Order: sequence, then C-alpha cells, then structure tokens
Amino acid sequence: MIRNFIESDIEAINVLGNRLTSNFSKTNNLLELKTNSFTKILVFEEKNTVRGFLMYTELNETADIIELIVQEEYRGRNIATCLLDYMISDLKDSVKLITLEVRKSNKIAIQLYQKFGFQIVHIRKRYYGDGEDAYLMGRRLER
Ligand SMILES: CC(C)(COP(=O)(O)OP(=O)(O)OC[C@H]1O[C@@H](n2cnc3c(N)ncnc32)[C@H](O)[C@@H]1OP(=O)(O)O)[C@@H](O)C(=O)NCCC(=O)NCCS
Repeated sequence: MIRNFIESDIEAINVLGNRLTSNFSKTNNLLELKTNSFTKILVFEEKNTVRGFLMYTELNETADIIELIVQEEYRGRNIATCLLDYMISDLKDSVKLITLEVRKSNKIAIQLYQKFGFQIVHIRKRYYGDGEDAYLMGRRLER
C-alpha cells in the first residue's frame, strides 16, 4: 500500500534515509515537514512495515525528487516503480517538469529513472560531500 507518511512512520523513514545519507535524520526534520505543504513523503507499506519511501517537493511548475529508497531486502520487486507511478499520477496539473540529482556511479537508479523517461540534462560537478559528481535528470510532463 502506498500512502502519505504519518507521524508514526518517522522512525522507519529515518532509519532507511540514514542508510543512504548518513545525516538524513539530522538534515530533515520530518515532523516539521508535515506542516510544509511543498514537501511530500510517500511510503510503501507492507505488513505494517515501511519498505521504502519517496520524498519530493512540488512547487509551481516543478516537482523535485529528493530521496527514493527501498529497503535492501525488498529491492527488485517494483516498489520504487510503484512509488514513482503513484507520485507522477498524484502531481498537480500545474507541474510540467520533474527533476532529480543522482550520483554518476548509481547505475541502478539511473536505469530506473531512464525507464521512467528521465534524461540527463546536466552534470553538477562535485555535488556530493565526498566529491562525486551528480547527474541532473529531468522529465517533462505532457499535460
Ligand atoms: C534505486 C532503488 C530505489 C530501486 O528500487 P527497486 O524497488 O529495487 O526498483 P524496482 O524493482 O522498481 O526496479 C525498477 C527498475 O530499476 C532498475 N533496476 C532495479 N534493480 C536493478 C538492478 N539490480 N540492476 C539494474 N537495474 C535495476 C531497472 O530499470 C528496473 O526496471 P526493470 O525491472 O523493468 O528492469 C533501490 O535500488 C534503492 O533503494 N537504492 C538505494 C537508494 C538509491 O540509490 N536511491 C536513488 C537515489 S537518487
């Protein structure tokens, strides 16, 4: 089941988020985000457990994917695909472009986004704290 996050999901989201970005829980105050109408978090829940989440912002004509993570043991089961499908179908009609940054080395995520029609539009040099470059990827929405 995919749904918007609720307060009781915060711990599980932080655990997953910290696996990808070590300071995820420090840089994102999820309780505060609940009152911020631009940032949304969708969770994929199965057997009362959060298996993955997608965090994005939606502002005027652009949606930006901030984090997309699936619990390691549950990867390859279309969970990310379901989260992306849900997000895209839930975007307001005013949104014409979806953007995201991804590590150049993250072949799996790049393949996932390309499958969803995202294209590499720019390289952000040394975007990450460890000096790795990011690809800026984008997908225009025909509305
Ligand atoms: C990237 C990630 C979210 C994908 O989640 P997932 O639920 O396993 O993805 P899905 O099962 O929906 O797979 C969708 C597509 O992703 C790509 N993909 C998934 N696993 C892959 C693998 N092991 N090798 C190559 N491509 C893969 C494929 O294009 C796949 O489509 P296909 O099944 O038609 O081949 C997951 O690997 C993850 O959490 N990675 C760590 C966090 C991360 O890197 N997030 C992206 C940050 S921008």
